[in-house]
Amino acid sequence: MDKLLIQGGAVLSGEVAISGAKNAALPILCAALLTTEPVHFTNVPQLNDISTMLRLLADMGVGVTKDGVDGLTLDGGKLNNPVASYEMVKTMRAAILVLGPLVARCGEARVSLPGGCAIGARPVDQHIKGLQAMGAEISVEHGYVHAKASRLKGARICTDMVTVTGTENLMMAACLADGETVIENAAREPEVVDLANCLVSMGARISGAGTDVIRIQGVEKLHGATHSIMPDRIETGTYLCAAAVTGGDVRLLKTSAAYLDTVVDKLMDAGCDITVERDSIRLVAPKRLKAVSLRTAPYPAFPTDMQAQFMAINCVAEGVATIRETIFENRFMHANELARLGADIQIEGSNAIVRGVARLEGATVMATDLRASASLVIAGLVAQGETLIDRIYHLDRGYAQIEEKLTKLGAIVKRVH
Ligand code: UD1
Repeated sequence: MDKLLIQGGAVLSGEVAISGAKNAALPILCAALLTTEPVHFTNVPQLNDISTMLRLLADMGVGVTKDGVDGLTLDGGKLNNPVASYEMVKTMRAAILVLGPLVARCGEARVSLPGGCAIGARPVDQHIKGLQAMGAEISVEHGYVHAKASRLKGARICTDMVTVTGTENLMMAACLADGETVIENAAREPEVVDLANCLVSMGARISGAGTDVIRIQGVEKLHGATHSIMPDRIETGTYLCAAAVTGGDVRLLKTSAAYLDTVVDKLMDAGCDITVERDSIRLVAPKRLKAVSLRTAPYPAFPTDMQAQFMAINCVAEGVATIRETIFENRFMHANELARLGADIQIEGSNAIVRGVARLEGATVMATDLRASASLVIAGLVAQGETLIDRIYHLDRGYAQIEEKLTKLGAIVKRVH
């Protein structure tokens, strides 16, 4: 199992390019299931989660052709096996995103239940209830969701809570349904908008993506298209935090601050100077950051996927920060690992109180989930001496070429096999 060895203390500087967004690419690749024609994608990030999704789609009969470093064509013309096995879904919950497109296109799907995961229970009841409202017959047997519908019917669906992949699954299913579907309490995340843009270029009729009411007029069929995946706002935020904690000066290229308002605001509150250009963001950090409190909530509020990284920067900031996690019930696992580096963090239910310390010290720590791993990297960059991060397969799920990118910015980082 790979580990990451970081020699702390280097000040990050220079430029690095941000990859396409994992959380946009995963649903968008599933959109190719909705048509018999080839769909071409660019700016696809090179990540383990993407490889897993491509294996899953290939298992179903989808043709996968790589085109250069970040290009890809998916051809659903020979789709013949609408099944997602437990083996695939257990490593990547986003595999549930095939459910909506499969039942809409094939009239049938068998998809393993993802089960719980480290950060919380994460049920998929809203995905199921929405499809049922659209007329799908759904049974859950032997750990698999079995969905059937000769043709889905448009419906009015109001989800009990804001769910990102739930909104995406239902929006994709509704594209081929008979009549209009209205999704209320829809997720407003930019990745939902990117998916909607891709679907529209495939011939879907969608309005309201980016608001909490999305309307989809079903069509008979969708066609091929070309779509470029949006930049990864969480990868962008993670590198901004890494630069900030080291007192660095970096410019992130091929990205946008458009969807990062809350993150940029917090970094400015922490004392960073941020300059936003059309396709790049520059951050110049002060010698020592100021503590910043935050509360996670669905977009456009502060993203839960940036909570762990901000906990890391608060560990060495001046002052006391309160971090409140409202999306997932068990998303503070990085706190114990950060404490191994010398952080002072007190957990009280869904609140973490972080008292900034003058310095962290390198130690061996364990990555527990994707964003928790990123927080350990950030802490390792500023800790004195060596930090060894175990189980970085979590990191490889969501950060493309992380050691190359960090090294380019001047970090002393090595992958240990
Ligand atoms: C997506 C993101 C993930 C991010 C999360 C919240 C992808 C591939 N993943 O995950 O990185 O952390 O949004 O921004 O885009 N819930 C239910 N029933 C459901 C669905 C969700 O109870 O049917 C609950 C979840 O347990 C959680 C909350 O709703 O507490 C939000 O989850 P959701 O937005 O669905 O997260 P994901 O789409 O899985």
